[in-house]
Amino acid sequence: MKIYEPTMEAMNQASILIKDGGIVVMPTETVYGLACNALNVAAVKRVFEIKQRPADNPLILHIAEPTDLRVYSEFVPEVAYRLAERFWPGPLTMVLPKRAVVPYEATGGLDTVALRIPRHFVSLTLIRLSGCAIAAPSANLFTQLSPTSVEDINHQIIDSVDMVLDGGPCQVGLESTVLDLTTEPFQVLRPGQVSRADIQAVLGQPLGSSPSEVIRKSPGLYRRHYAPRAQIIFVDKLRSGMPGLTFSVAENEDQIHMPLDPAAYASVLYGSLKKLDDRGHEQIGIELPPFSPEWEAIHDRLKKASSTL
Ligand code: TXA
Ligand code: MG
Repeated sequence: MKIYEPTMEAMNQASILIKDGGIVVMPTETVYGLACNALNVAAVKRVFEIKQRPADNPLILHIAEPTDLRVYSEFVPEVAYRLAERFWPGPLTMVLPKRAVVPYEATGGLDTVALRIPRHFVSLTLIRLSGCAIAAPSANLFTQLSPTSVEDINHQIIDSVDMVLDGGPCQVGLESTVLDLTTEPFQVLRPGQVSRADIQAVLGQPLGSSPSEVIRKSPGLYRRHYAPRAQIIFVDKLRSGMPGLTFSVAENEDQIHMPLDPAAYASVLYGSLKKLDDRGHEQIGIELPPFSPEWEAIHDRLKKASSTL
């Protein structure tokens, strides 16, 4: 058995595994990640293999202190420290020019590197104990749903890794906001819980184009992503007898009541889709959430989950 409660002993063991090139499934506040030593090329390659992820899709490096920004990035603008002060530890990833120490295998061949400090005590502890930056993509197979609990992780992935730390359900439930600080103006490449408005308030200036316009810039941003097996159909109101997500009262186990609050909705979204997928439905209806800015990250993921391309 390789699934452990995150006791101090288990975290110590996991950090030694990571430092030595092993792969550990770890919880973060957003989703579970496939963690490895970001500077170990063999380990990074194994992560890509396990996920069946194309080699040009870059990983996020998880660090423990804002001062680590300079260890992995060649140039850190002052604004990065202000954003770090406001949002770290937390679900914001910043893309910056990389230093030579970061292998191209981790950045998908790019000269930039994505960095974040996670808020979950298990991931933070692992980074500190292992003493290295931890590269961690979401612990799902390429294009499938990111897991927000150990129960939702694909068995093939569990079988392929060296250890799994079970930190319970992830609080945020959606992947981090990815912000590119190497372009002028800066761009949100992937929306998340840290919103455009939150970021603009710190920057004091507007951000650039929306994610749909920057798909090519971030190679990982394929249209079909975060997708269940079932086909997704958007509806204003879920019909009686139709499986899916509803803001009303669920009529049976094939319908799941969703909270009308974006943070609460996000924290249960992937788990709910997984549950309906596991019940073998061909189609899942989803009542469209409001189209206001607080729901941007959720609309982004729903769109990707429903894309057939
Ligand atoms: O919340 C999260 O970010 C989770 C947890 C585990 O931290 N991680 C995660 O990693 O979602 P992953 O690999 O599934 O997604 C990383 C995203 C991809 O869309 C990728 O294209 C983008 O970050 N990214 C990474 N490095 C980049 C770079 N140098 N330039 C542009 N985009 C980058
Ligand atoms: Mg992912």
